[in-house]
Amino acid sequence: MGIHFGVDYYPEHWPKKRWERDAQLMKELGIQVVRMGEFSWFKMEPEEEKFNFSWLEEAISILDKYGIKTILGTPTAAPPAWIIEKNPEIQPIDKTGKRRYFGGRHHDCQSNKVYREHIKRFVEAYSSNFSSNSGVIGWQIDNELGNSHGDLCMCDNCKQRFQDWLKRKYNTIEELNLAWGTVFWSQGYNNFNQIMPPLVTVTGENPSQLLDWKCFCSDLIVDFAKMQVEIIRKNCPNHFITHNYMCFDDKVNYYDLAELLDFVSNDIYPAGNWQKQPNQPYNEMAACHDVIRSYKKRSFWMMEQQTGIAGWATMGRALNPGESSAWAMQSIAHGADAIVFFRWRACAYGTEQYWHGILGHSGRPGRIYDEIKNMISRIKPFMDDFEGSIPKTEVGIVHSFRQNYAIQIQPNHPELKYVEHLHCYYKPLFNRNVPVDFITENEDFSKYKLIIAPLQYLMNSELENKYFEYVKNGGNLVLDMRAGVKDDNNVCMTEYELPGRLGELLGIEIPEYDCLFEHNCEVRYENEDYSVFKWADIIDIKGAKTVAYYSSDIFYKNSPAITENRYGKGHAYYIGTEPSEKLMQKIIDRIIEKNNIKVLGESTDGVDISERQKNGRKWIFVTNLTNKDQEYELSEELKMLVGERKNKLKPYEAQLFINQ
Ligand code: GAL
Ligand code: ZN
Repeated sequence: MGIHFGVDYYPEHWPKKRWERDAQLMKELGIQVVRMGEFSWFKMEPEEEKFNFSWLEEAISILDKYGIKTILGTPTAAPPAWIIEKNPEIQPIDKTGKRRYFGGRHHDCQSNKVYREHIKRFVEAYSSNFSSNSGVIGWQIDNELGNSHGDLCMCDNCKQRFQDWLKRKYNTIEELNLAWGTVFWSQGYNNFNQIMPPLVTVTGENPSQLLDWKCFCSDLIVDFAKMQVEIIRKNCPNHFITHNYMCFDDKVNYYDLAELLDFVSNDIYPAGNWQKQPNQPYNEMAACHDVIRSYKKRSFWMMEQQTGIAGWATMGRALNPGESSAWAMQSIAHGADAIVFFRWRACAYGTEQYWHGILGHSGRPGRIYDEIKNMISRIKPFMDDFEGSIPKTEVGIVHSFRQNYAIQIQPNHPELKYVEHLHCYYKPLFNRNVPVDFITENEDFSKYKLIIAPLQYLMNSELENKYFEYVKNGGNLVLDMRAGVKDDNNVCMTEYELPGRLGELLGIEIPEYDCLFEHNCEVRYENEDYSVFKWADIIDIKGAKTVAYYSSDIFYKNSPAITENRYGKGHAYYIGTEPSEKLMQKIIDRIIEKNNIKVLGESTDGVDISERQKNGRKWIFVTNLTNKDQEYELSEELKMLVGERKNKLKPYEAQLFINQ
């Protein structure tokens, strides 16, 4: 596409006479695209069916004159007051049964038919109006679907839709009663009409019902997006369609949503808006980019990349010189084809007055503007070449929305969080500069040398078989605590000891376990003791080798905590606890070395080494995400395209290499 840098632009927040100046400044900066319109329904339809697109057409044409193209957002995350006045029932009901009102954003029920009619009318008019506008190249559906929606709406419409969803899934109420185990606490249903969304109860909830509810909400959001996608595809066959994701956010299954889109986009704010210090850790940012690339297994866009202080009522940190461009470079290194900076200029009013942009309130270019200009001029010349490229990965981390939901519903340990637990594995791989994909349980495992499948809590025989096959054929698999506890209905399995049939693959059995509530436990690995947290599986060996064992003075002292088993041509590891960072690094290093897994180089802390490949060409990106000088070494001899001194990095410096 040849478009690599953009800004999120809100011309409607400023007088028209400023627009031309904005376009000039953007052009000088190297900007080629803007995203507009995703929150301006009222400006575009101030009264029902009285459309006013002329202001937007004008903005588009001024920008186009300067060679800047437009992505239009559908403004369906903020229906205007006249819609709410006419149809107050579209405002969502929260889990306490109370309505949430107009005045912020996301005040909508996504299953409400009346609201959907409003959307159809608007998106139909909007997309047909801009279908042949030469300035427009693509669309963003809604904005951050799932954001602010808590457990989504629990109104009567949603109840009805949930019941229909359950009917399709279970066919008969008897099936549902069995699947949900409603015999417990007299929760049996006579018919689907009796089933409620999970409104606040007096005490306790049914975990199976909660899991279905979360999956239902995800499907609802996908359906909500699909309705808009279909209209735009029909009216604008030459435009692309994307959506701005939020990394690991879990309200909607992003793999499902990705099927509707041409490519996935992401929003990232590493410094947050009320976090004190420090930023989101480098490894979490890297994981975020990798998961975004993984949702569609292709390169992606950053639709909102933080450029300045973030803030609503309170503010986050000022960014160090070079920091914002290093973040953008890290996004590119992990597979972004384009970076759209949020936002062009800080707004003078509204909730986000303190969410700063490339320009401050005054609109005068300053430090951040100059910094981004400099970064763009250095990297842009190479971006057409590596557009569409992605890394060649040998390691896959299994990432599942359903497992995440089930762990949220019953964390087992109060501090066990699914995504945080994935990071425990990702971080030591990041530290060693190993390229990683996130994969779903449905993907082809065979192309990975190593698959790490944390918290495989919900299990079924099909997935078990996949794991058996994978290892039998030479794969290396890591499974860990709480694997194989439940079936897909979130009901405990009873046929075997834990970890169910996978015990045979792992060469172990787990007759007992200990939730490490207030005490931590120690584990001995290669003659040294390390802390472990949250959980302790008490493992019986059935053929596996013990890799580490509990060393604390506890009744299961000396029983295995981590094991390794040869099965067929491969290896299956089991980690019955959450190891400290140090121990996890040792375990991952052991697996990397033993299996000869590709590392891109060696680097000090806060340096990201990543690759992208296409048609036999390979680009290596080295990004210093810290304010200090750093050092690194690459695993192969490559030609430097951007950078000053090989093996040395100045604060926030990014370097680029190529293999030919
Ligand atoms: C994002 C959102 C933007 C803006 C920004 C700053 O989550 O997509 O519309 O709100 O945060 O708050
Ligand atoms: Zn609703």
